Amino acid sequence: MCGIIGYIGFRKASEVILQGLKTLEYRGYDSAGIAISNEKGIEIRKGAGKVADVSNSLLFTSLNGKIGIGHNRWATHGKVCDKNAHPHSDCSGNIALVHNGVIENYFVLKEELISKGHKFKSETDSEIIVHLIEENCKSMWLENAFVEAIEKLQGSYAIVLVEKSGQKLFAARKNSPLIVGIGKQEYFFASDIPAVLSYTKKIVPIEDECIVIASRSGFKIFNFTGTKIKPKIIKVKWSSKVAEKGGFPHFMLKEIYEQKLALYNSLSTNVSKAKKMIVNAKNIHIIACGTSYHASIIFSILLEKHLKKNAKAFIASEYRTIANPDKDVLAIAISQSGETADTLQAIRFAKSNNAKLLALTNVVGSSLARISNEIVYLNAGPEMSIAATKTFSSQLAIIYKLIFENLEQKTIPKLIESALSHEQKIKSLAPKLKKKNDIFFIARGLSYPIAMEGALKLKELSYLHAEAYPGGELKHGPLSLIRSGVPIIVLAPDDESLPKIYGNIKEVKARGAFVIAFTNSAEIIKEVDIAISIEKTQSELYPFLMLPILQLLAYYVSVSRGIDPDRPRNLAKSVTVE
Ligand code: G6P
Repeated sequence: MCGIIGYIGFRKASEVILQGLKTLEYRGYDSAGIAISNEKGIEIRKGAGKVADVSNSLLFTSLNGKIGIGHNRWATHGKVCDKNAHPHSDCSGNIALVHNGVIENYFVLKEELISKGHKFKSETDSEIIVHLIEENCKSMWLENAFVEAIEKLQGSYAIVLVEKSGQKLFAARKNSPLIVGIGKQEYFFASDIPAVLSYTKKIVPIEDECIVIASRSGFKIFNFTGTKIKPKIIKVKWSSKVAEKGGFPHFMLKEIYEQKLALYNSLSTNVSKAKKMIVNAKNIHIIACGTSYHASIIFSILLEKHLKKNAKAFIASEYRTIANPDKDVLAIAISQSGETADTLQAIRFAKSNNAKLLALTNVVGSSLARISNEIVYLNAGPEMSIAATKTFSSQLAIIYKLIFENLEQKTIPKLIESALSHEQKIKSLAPKLKKKNDIFFIARGLSYPIAMEGALKLKELSYLHAEAYPGGELKHGPLSLIRSGVPIIVLAPDDESLPKIYGNIKEVKARGAFVIAFTNSAEIIKEVDIAISIEKTQSELYPFLMLPILQLLAYYVSVSRGIDPDRPRNLAKSVTVE
């Protein structure tokens, strides 16, 4: 979380930075700010609010200069307000800095710096870094002062610093993402690739524990022990159009519709090496967070059921406490961004216990890709909306390819298309749900993790309370919450669980629930208040029919409540703090 950006070159830096900040807004939108170095010194404009609003009121692009930095904040230390917005400058105003991450020893450092006379303007952990560098500058040149300050920091950080003379940008990373985009006599720093795609497709993902210093004539990378690192340039194929809505009102709807194409691309990925690792594995641990965790559950079910493997899905933040990895474990991390801190920490723990690592990720050169023994890329293209949609179905497609031999490449994308054909009917459900306080999802078997995903999407995007239960669990507690009019959303495909889920519908109807079913069973259609009939397919493939329906449902309930589904409050796409 938090998006950082830096530019040095020949263009108007404020325009490049503003565009980058808009692209990186999915990383945080509590506040936004920019610092430009020009003939007046370092000019800083920053404030609480979304980047477009802050930039419009503070006229970011009225700043002249060809070097600068910018930041989107997702608050960790200090409330959301103007003074806590980045960039932060030192007492003299000679340097300014943006930071993504958490400085764990900031309190001790702050006390020390205050005792040496430094005046702090914010409550953030980030501000200590700029004062620390200023303090070091009393006895050394800026480059050394920067390096020595970095040595004192504990925690996670991606930092970009601009200096008054406007000749250089200084950056460092540890456990937070940072890339450098390479142009002709211009360099771009960013938390993520889409921020620089309009200018360059030549990208250097910066390794962990490295420092980068860029001037207009070149840049150098060295690690924390001072060894020079040769930059590994990758050429990304993503188009800069991915950062545009392409006629859709929101990125989320665009990305829901992009699923068909994304799945074609995912299904053409070569997974043979990963398959071999799975076949040879004695025990499999699948590690992920959020939506990716729901893919992990489906993966573990299919591994157990179809490949007879000993497989377990873990919530990444719990892994170190409850798992016991060893050399016989294949740890599979699933992460869209490849930068989720909880997932990275879990996978590092597995690695330190000699487990082999396989990654499923969408981002080439991401931290996860770099620490894993083998990587399968989703090839879903960049995802801009906070809520994962196309990358989740791409994860599922890869999982299905890993499990099932002779998977017909066209079947899955067609199911997505069929599901999307129900859009108008799904939209008409939104007014019936938008004022309800609690919404329950029930399902069984493979549909249950999809119901969990449906409930997660609904709660994060509409701020309504939503929970998913396996149909059989209702009677063990949640049934006490079912009263007249409480909405129950049922996933009832005609697989082996149909008779049982029919029974669950009877139970909740008997207590007055308002039941909406996505089904292809004539009996269930008769039984419920609203039914949307779905097409018939093989029982294992129903997730691909149910998923887009629930994504659309969450999208339309969110919009009907006046919420921006691309920017749900308090959330960020890539969560780089534990
Ligand atoms: C955040 C996002 C979710 C995402 C989760 C895991 O919470 O808001 O949409 O599923 O992180 O992200 P990852 O990039 O590891 O899949």
